[in-house]
Amino acid sequence: MQQPINAPTLYINDLNVWFGKNHVLKDLTFDVFPRQVTSFIGPSKCGKTALVRCLNRLNDLKSDFRYTGNVQFNGKDLYSSKVNVTDISPKIGMVFHKPIPFRRSIYENVAYPARLRGIKQSSELDTIVEECLIEAQLWDEVCHDLDASPDILTIGQQQQLCIARALAGNPEVLIFDEPCEQLDAMETPKLEVTVQNLKSRYSLIFVTNKRRQAARVSDVAGFLYNGELIEFGHTEQIFTNPKNKLTEDYVTGRLG
Ligand SMILES: Nc1ncnc2c1ncn2[C@@H]1O[C@H](COP(=O)(O)OP(=O)(O)OP(=O)(O)O)[C@@H](O)[C@H]1O
Ligand SMILES: [Mg+2]
Repeated sequence: MQQPINAPTLYINDLNVWFGKNHVLKDLTFDVFPRQVTSFIGPSKCGKTALVRCLNRLNDLKSDFRYTGNVQFNGKDLYSSKVNVTDISPKIGMVFHKPIPFRRSIYENVAYPARLRGIKQSSELDTIVEECLIEAQLWDEVCHDLDASPDILTIGQQQQLCIARALAGNPEVLIFDEPCEQLDAMETPKLEVTVQNLKSRYSLIFVTNKRRQAARVSDVAGFLYNGELIEFGHTEQIFTNPKNKLTEDYVTGRLG
C-alpha cells in the first residue's frame, strides 16, 4: 500500500535502547519526513550514534543490544521478523564519520551496491555510476580515473565517494553520522552543499556535534542529552527560541 504524501519515512515511538545494562536511549519519539534534513546534536556519548544505528538496524550486530518501542519505516515495523536486514540496509543508507571505500576501483565502489540489487548490464551500471557520482558532486573530479583506486582521492573526495556508493543502493533515507569529522575546512562546505542538494529526493538524517553546522544544514533538529531527546523541532526554533533550558545551554555553548 502506498504511503500518504505527507507521511513520515521513519516513525519512532517510545524507543528505549540498552547495551547490556547501559540504558543509552530513553523514551524517544519523533518522525523523519522526506525532503528535509533532520539533525541530531548533543554532547559526546549522549546517544547520537546509538540512535541512528537503530534506524538501519546496525545495532543488531551488537550481541548486548536490546530495545523496546516502535520503529516504523514507510509505515511498517522495521524490526518485524518479516524484515530482511540485508534488503533494508541499502534503503536506509549510512555515511560514517570516517570514509572507508572498498578496496576496489572508484567505479566498482559505486557499481557494487547496484550489482547487489541485481543490475548486471554494463551500460546500466555505467549510467548509475555516473548519476550517483554526479549527485555526490564527484563526477567532474574522477570521470577520467574511474579505474583508479580510491587511494588517489583526498579524504573529502573519499567521503563524497562513500555518498555516491550509498546512493547506488537506491536509498530512501540517508544517514550521515558526523560525516565531516575527518574533513578539512575546504572540504566541509562541499559536503554540506551535497547534503542540501540531496534533500529534494531523500529523507536525510545528519548527526553532528558542531552546533553551527546543524543550524546551517538542517530543517528540523533534535537535541539529545544523556540518551533523552530533550527537544525536537524546527531548527530555527531550536537555535533561536529553545523551550528547554538544557537546549538553550547547549546551543549557546554553555553546556557540552
Ligand atoms: N557496545 C556498547 N556497549 C555498551 N555501551 C555502549 C556501546 N556502544 C555505545 N555505548 C554507550 O552508549 C552511549 C551512547 O554512545 P554513542 O556512541 O551513541 O554517543 P554519541 O552521542 O554518538 O557520542 P560521540 O559524539 O562521541 O560520537 C555511551 O554511553 C556509550 O558508552
Ligand atoms: Mg557518535
